[in-house]
Amino acid sequence: MIVKLHKVVKRMLFNDTFLRACRKERVEHVPVWYMRQAGRYQPEYRKIREKYSLMEICEIPEVCAEVTLLPVRQLNTDAAILFSDIMIPVKAMGMEVDIKGGYGPVIANPIKQAADVERLRDLDPEADLPNTMEAIRILHRELNVPLIGFAGAPFTLASYMIEGGPSKNYHKTKQMMYAAPEVWNALMDKLGNMIVTYMKAQVAAGAQAVQIFDSWIGSLSPSDYRQYVFPTMRRIFENLQGIGAPMIYFGINTGELLPVWKELAVDVIGVDWRVPLDAARARVGTKFALQGNLDPAVLLAPWPVIEQKAREILDLGMVEPGYIFNLGHGIFPEVKVETLKRLTEFIHRYSSAKLQA
Ligand code: CP3
Repeated sequence: MIVKLHKVVKRMLFNDTFLRACRKERVEHVPVWYMRQAGRYQPEYRKIREKYSLMEICEIPEVCAEVTLLPVRQLNTDAAILFSDIMIPVKAMGMEVDIKGGYGPVIANPIKQAADVERLRDLDPEADLPNTMEAIRILHRELNVPLIGFAGAPFTLASYMIEGGPSKNYHKTKQMMYAAPEVWNALMDKLGNMIVTYMKAQVAAGAQAVQIFDSWIGSLSPSDYRQYVFPTMRRIFENLQGIGAPMIYFGINTGELLPVWKELAVDVIGVDWRVPLDAARARVGTKFALQGNLDPAVLLAPWPVIEQKAREILDLGMVEPGYIFNLGHGIFPEVKVETLKRLTEFIHRYSSAKLQA
């Protein structure tokens, strides 16, 4: 009886604004969350990082859950994003991954040839990443906002796996794409399978939305995207239809790719700050919800500038139902917690006044 009552109360107090916006339904305010909302800009996170490495935070369910919850409580965001990294499942597939703070993922055994791709193991999330799955289950109990699960997209993951670390021009990655398309396609297939399996497992454990991060995809021309990456993306999103969680696809420098993304069966498109939201809508149509797109660098500006730019974005975003406020990329360490608190408050206040007008 008491357990049942607890569940009823929890459902009543649950803030599902973000999920409604993903489905283009009516909302009372524009939902907000921030990419990299857990990280070094928070004194509390820095304190935890003195004790644990990034990998350790991901590996200890209680710590992972605590770090995930922190920004939701601190900033009052409308969604939580699982604290993990796009390289965690890649490590489970057999790559020797290390993540260096302030630099990025480093791989000791980069992919060079067909045999390296063949060696990659299929991901079995419950067996390979039990701690991540446990963290999701803890968060599902604790949170009163939806939990976003995530994975890196095949191109972005492949770029680290082939280059061996961060890259400016992705020459090795593109070389494999052009010179060894059969090896490239085999890698895309394996990563595509991993992403489908991993997203299904995260949703089964309690994630209520999923975001696919394709941070570096903007380095491809639309025709190369269509030829070398699009078939895998289409297969991923088709295979994830009906999982009961909205799907978000995000990338940077994707302005020219949006007309191709339009053909994908996703619910939400995440845009960076280079494309105004009205232009993004003109490129993808009104079928999708949009997410974005304040330039994170604006967070270093004086408050009146931040407010002005946030208002401009809200005015464009709110023209259609289905809009989620976010940054165009992640928060970085120099940003102040106070700034994000104030911004979240402003987005909630300004959008609810506008929706009631
Ligand atoms: O709060 C959240 O957004 C959840 C956590 C999260 C992390 N990485 C933790 C992390 C998420 C969603 C990611 C995704 C991720 N990881 C992406 C896609 C999104 C993006 O930002 O483009 C990429 C490309 C990576 C790979 C990666 N991991 C890079 C490039 C870096 C270094 C960047 C930096 O600022 O140091 C990492 C390290 C990393 N992943 C940190 C965090 C909080 C850095 C902080 C630390 O060392 O504690």
